[in-house]
Amino acid sequence: MSQLIVQPAKILEGEVKLPGDKSISHRAIIFGALSHGKTVIRNLLEGDDVLRTIQIFRDLGVRIEKNGDRWVVHGKGAEGLKRSPTPLYCGNSGTTMRLMTGLLAALPFESVLTGDASLDRRPMGRVIVPLSKMGARIFEEWQEGRRFIHVWGTKLKAIRYRLPVPSAQVKSALLLAGLVAEVSVQVREPIKTRDHTERMLKLFRDRRGKNLIIPGDPSSAAFFVVAGLIHSNPKSHLLIKNLLLNPTRIGFLKVLGKMGGEIKIQRQGTMAGELTGNLTVSPSCLRAVSLGGELVPSLIDEVPILAVAASRAGGKSRFRDMKELRIKESDRISSIASEFPKFGVKVVEKKNGFEIKGTDRVQGGIGESYGDHRIAMSLAILGTAASAESLINDVDCIQTSFPSFISTLRKIGGNVHQVR
Ligand code: S3P
Repeated sequence: MSQLIVQPAKILEGEVKLPGDKSISHRAIIFGALSHGKTVIRNLLEGDDVLRTIQIFRDLGVRIEKNGDRWVVHGKGAEGLKRSPTPLYCGNSGTTMRLMTGLLAALPFESVLTGDASLDRRPMGRVIVPLSKMGARIFEEWQEGRRFIHVWGTKLKAIRYRLPVPSAQVKSALLLAGLVAEVSVQVREPIKTRDHTERMLKLFRDRRGKNLIIPGDPSSAAFFVVAGLIHSNPKSHLLIKNLLLNPTRIGFLKVLGKMGGEIKIQRQGTMAGELTGNLTVSPSCLRAVSLGGELVPSLIDEVPILAVAASRAGGKSRFRDMKELRIKESDRISSIASEFPKFGVKVVEKKNGFEIKGTDRVQGGIGESYGDHRIAMSLAILGTAASAESLINDVDCIQTSFPSFISTLRKIGGNVHQVR
């Protein structure tokens, strides 16, 4: 298990090169595999989660290869997928497990899905219940403390379903089941969630391979946006290019703007059917914020790093309506409430959220990631703004979504070292 030593950074400046968006990368592989012909993908995120999705399609008989900086998926349509003789391993990736369950429910063979210990704790009932209403045959089996999801593919029927929780993964599982089964699926969302699956459905409507460039991941950009805003050197300045600007994903930019963050957004064009643009970030005097309600799904993965921004803002920030955070890669409410105080930041844990009192005296501390990539990276950024050295334990999980995080932070002036 490796650790990260973080020293306060003198200045943060330069261009941040972002990997491709995680949600879109999964979907590019999935839609490429379900189409006919070659799909060529550039700037695909090569994080562990996406590599799991790639390996699963290989296990199902799809040829996927890397040529230089391009990934090529040789799709043969849904009918070209074959039963895997071995269980399909999803690792840490909830997106892989939930989307694949929907897709496999409509294919005429049996599949078994497994994951790591963190994924074992995450609920699958939210996809199994509506898929079962479509006629799917799925059950969870526990063996020696590990979970196996058995999916016996069958003919499915149409469904109209209102999501009980706002979840893009559940919505996407149902849409993929409907696509493969060729039946109608209507999903109503209580609050709009990320719409990448709907966009891909449009893009791939002729079911032929495509050439795609994946835009930069806003959830990864968020670590650098906050790092740039809270840095004490007024000369710090960051530039981020080709960032995904889908409105369902950039709630954190709205919140940081409301907190007084100096962020300039320049819209640019589209990539892979999605809006993109460039950003610049300068150090700013932040004020506390209160957030919850409709905004939450558009910043659900950015709460830990927004908590870092709140740690350096004037006043008390309130984070509400975030029950879903309890069932992410870790219980993120409790991870924030237990780790931030180790850096001198006061946090009060609530049932569905937390409160943070901002301070201009963040101290060096020793933090635990709980095996959660977004907690590990958030603590690293908190460390760059601290007055002394910090140590973040168990940081291998950063590979899940942002393998180049540490080298990118070093390139812009971050003083971080990974030790094993
Ligand atoms: C994702 C949806 C969100 C998000 C996750 C990726 C997706 O999960 O937290 O990181 O790609 O559809 P929920 O659908 O559980 O909210």
